[in-house]
Amino acid sequence: MSGFRIAGVGAALPDKILTNNDLKEFMDTSDEWIKERTGISERRVGSSTLELATNAALQAIERSHLEASQIENIVLATTTPEQLCPGTAPAVANNLGIQCGAFDVQAACAGWVYGLMVANGLLLQGAKNVLLIGAEALDKITDFTDRGTGILFGNGGAATILEASEDATGKILAWDLDSNGALGSILYADHGSNFHMEGREVFKKAVTVIESSVNKVLREADVKPADIKLVVPHQANIRIIELAWRKLGFTMDQTATVLERTGNTSAASIPIALEEAVTEGRVEPGDLVLFVGFGAGMTWASALIEWDAP
Ligand code: COA
Repeated sequence: MSGFRIAGVGAALPDKILTNNDLKEFMDTSDEWIKERTGISERRVGSSTLELATNAALQAIERSHLEASQIENIVLATTTPEQLCPGTAPAVANNLGIQCGAFDVQAACAGWVYGLMVANGLLLQGAKNVLLIGAEALDKITDFTDRGTGILFGNGGAATILEASEDATGKILAWDLDSNGALGSILYADHGSNFHMEGREVFKKAVTVIESSVNKVLREADVKPADIKLVVPHQANIRIIELAWRKLGFTMDQTATVLERTGNTSAASIPIALEEAVTEGRVEPGDLVLFVGFGAGMTWASALIEWDAP
């Protein structure tokens, strides 16, 4: 292939909204406190990783020129697979009525960017297309009575179809995948348990790794912050984004954010924000788009792409 196009995007959120005021029933908190410290007003709960992944995939396929039967690979980034085993991607394929290469990627909130690099690798090996999904049912591992974590997380899913083509100009210009397992204890969920998190520590480390990872990618691509049309960061906390942006020199006008309405949807957050930006017409072929994810592991990842779409 000489490049890829984003042939379609789709997103799916559960119907049930849990507002900050709803959370007051379960914990001692306030709408003002949560909004000021996180930027989040509400999140979605209910549905399931499989249902959200399937619905997002169906929408992305419907918006593309492809039939489900033409999908060759499904890569699903998730922290909350439908079952411990098997992965959820084969079940998504089954729901779409197809059989194809299908597997999950687990890199927590950086999972979709890791998945993007895996998808790019498949295309470089000759695959015609990859349906890349991020989907989460984080309400399965969130204690909504815990003030530290219950205010942050929500459910959602989104799908992006990458299609290889000889005349496509889309490509990865620079990328960075990284992790530090020594920081595993600041954010984790054991089998059968909810999230445990040292919020302040996660906050500080997140800002540091975003800055270093994005700087590395910009340096490698020889690109300035102002050259980038759209930055799609992991949607964890608006203050993390604002602080990192001040250091990096990005503006909020360049940025896709949905966290006010979704909370942190982990591996689904970047593709959900991307889907909204694309449907609002914020990116055109030739634009530079930057993704940066970070989360439990700790894992983090950045990818700078040149956008192309039909
Ligand atoms: N509502 C009201 N008050 C709360 C509260 C809540 N939900 N959570 C904590 N507080 C109180 C604390 O009890 C504490 O009170 P005190 O000063 O009287 O002791 C005060 O607010 C500060 O608590 P702290 O835990 O230090 O708050 P914080 O400013 O660090 O904010 C987070 C907490 C979770 C919002 C913040 O640490 C954070 O967003 N961290 C990053 C988490 C993240 O993004 N994780 C996912 C990464 S992928």
